[in-house]
Amino acid sequence: MKKYTSISDIDDLESIIREARGLKSHNPEYKVGTGKTLGMLFFNNSLRTRLSTEKAAKLLGMDVMIMNVDKDGWALEFEDGAVMNSDKAEHIKEAAAVLSQYCDIIAVRAFPGLKDKEKDESEHILNSFQKYASVPIVNLESATGHPLQALTDAITIQEFNQVERPKVVLSWAPHPKALPQSVANSFVEVMQRLDVDFVITNPEGYDLASHIKKDTRVEHDQEKAFEDADFVYVKNWSSYESYGEVLNVEKNWIVDQAKLKATNNAKVMHCLPVRRNVVIADDVLDSDNAIVIAQANNRTYAAQVVLKRILEC
Ligand code: CP
Repeated sequence: MKKYTSISDIDDLESIIREARGLKSHNPEYKVGTGKTLGMLFFNNSLRTRLSTEKAAKLLGMDVMIMNVDKDGWALEFEDGAVMNSDKAEHIKEAAAVLSQYCDIIAVRAFPGLKDKEKDESEHILNSFQKYASVPIVNLESATGHPLQALTDAITIQEFNQVERPKVVLSWAPHPKALPQSVANSFVEVMQRLDVDFVITNPEGYDLASHIKKDTRVEHDQEKAFEDADFVYVKNWSSYESYGEVLNVEKNWIVDQAKLKATNNAKVMHCLPVRRNVVIADDVLDSDNAIVIAQANNRTYAAQVVLKRILEC
């Protein structure tokens, strides 16, 4: 694997899931990352991504350097040909080239602004690192995708699945703030590649981009979508059609035990952090239906298998 910026960088999904589960049950003594350094750059906050990726790198024997670019670094300029006479002190050309001398892999988290769809979809921060760095890039959640989370989710569904072909429902849920579509996008992309009965449910106005949904069934009636579901993956995202907006929705889309009655005693997933009693009710999060903690644990093994494959390339 030369880089990991999108689910499409995985060409053998079943085998990478198997390998991750193998790493989880037995961490190899041979440390493929000995003498190598992972640099992690955060333009946005993180708990799981930061700590699970650091843990994964250390399990492989790597050294890890972490920088909160937004707080500690020079403000970066990403435009080619910019006259840098304002607030931006360093160009990505120098920053990425310098970091490539210190690190063997550079991992970047950079959320979308949710104001300018075209700019967000250009993935200008992630792609600038890819353009100007000379080492592999890993996406720690970008403007349009969160592929480490999606690989984690695929691992978790395989781990907990008890039927031949599970029904998996991605359910939109309420949130007071405008959130990116990144987690949902990558989850859709990974589910489209697994042998599952996959349905997306969201209110009108919240359909994901058509190049992401492709021919995946979208059901605007949440109760209907939940019928016989084996897994319910809960996530909020802001509107793609009315880009970045939080729309008024008539019914409450919170996921609670009453809604789970229609499911096949579904396992409930969420990437975390989750706002209790807004996105998912306590009666679900505190029940055996919720597998969010086990899901978060699998972040380590998803990151470990990705870093391992890049190091082995
Ligand atoms: N799920 C996830 O990416 O968590 P963090 O934002 O805490 O990293």
